[in-house]
Amino acid sequence: MDDWHDPAFVRRWDAAADRGNPVRREHLDILMACLREVCRPGDAVLDLGSGSALVASRVLEELPRTRVVGIEPSQPMRAMADERMRRLGLDLVQVAGDLRSPDAIALPADKAQHRFAVAIAVQTLHTLDPDHQRAAIAWVARHLAPGGWFLISDRIAVTDPPLFPAFRAAWDRWAAVYGTTDPVPADLAAHHRLEREKGDRPLSLADLLSALRDAGFAAQPLHVHANRALVAGHLPSGDDHHPR
Ligand SMILES: C[S@@+](CC[C@H](N)C(=O)[O-])C[C@H]1O[C@@H](n2cnc3c(N)ncnc32)[C@H](O)[C@@H]1O
Repeated sequence: MDDWHDPAFVRRWDAAADRGNPVRREHLDILMACLREVCRPGDAVLDLGSGSALVASRVLEELPRTRVVGIEPSQPMRAMADERMRRLGLDLVQVAGDLRSPDAIALPADKAQHRFAVAIAVQTLHTLDPDHQRAAIAWVARHLAPGGWFLISDRIAVTDPPLFPAFRAAWDRWAAVYGTTDPVPADLAAHHRLEREKGDRPLSLADLLSALRDAGFAAQPLHVHANRALVAGHLPSGDDHHPR
């Protein structure tokens, strides 16, 4: 089981974040391109499961006039994020919060009034069970300003047994092209066993899009590669001739 509260586990995860997931770099590049397009100076970005601030530090470096609020329940992750912020001379507002009980998350007081322009969730939602994922998405919708964006990069479920050989082929190709060393499961049952062992509970792409739409977002995938998807959600702005 991935233990996000274990200092040794999170240090290993931080050091290898790109290695097991060759799509991460591409997703982060696209996510940053989207933020450059939609963020205005002074906007606040909410980072769900901000971890060791690998993503938040990139947002703050490339868009220095944004403010980033990270929600992260793991103390060792928050300590690593503090260390990274100090080293880079950046300022991340960290909130010790758990997305399984989002209404208990103590967001900075000014955000209760002004709300966020963008929320991001990179490899976070799949750590929650499906009902908590849907509730977290609905909670995000309530904390975004009109016209706000929600960008999600995450695992998606492999749902159809007959399609499994195509996924295995894609993962074998990752190993050949990117040198990934994660074991490639022999069949769908083995894939689901690995997910259970890690505590991963990804939604299918269809369910992720439905959860976003149920929460009021227009939603479409921006990039899908095997079981990794980057999805964009956008709330109506009331002025969609001039989208953010
Ligand atoms: C795979 S890491 C991703 C970290 C960061 N988003 C990144 O991409 O660098 C998953 C993160 O989700 C956090 N997480 C796990 N359960 C959570 C929960 N219930 N609420 C909020 N975050 C959670 C973990 O502590 C961890 O920092």
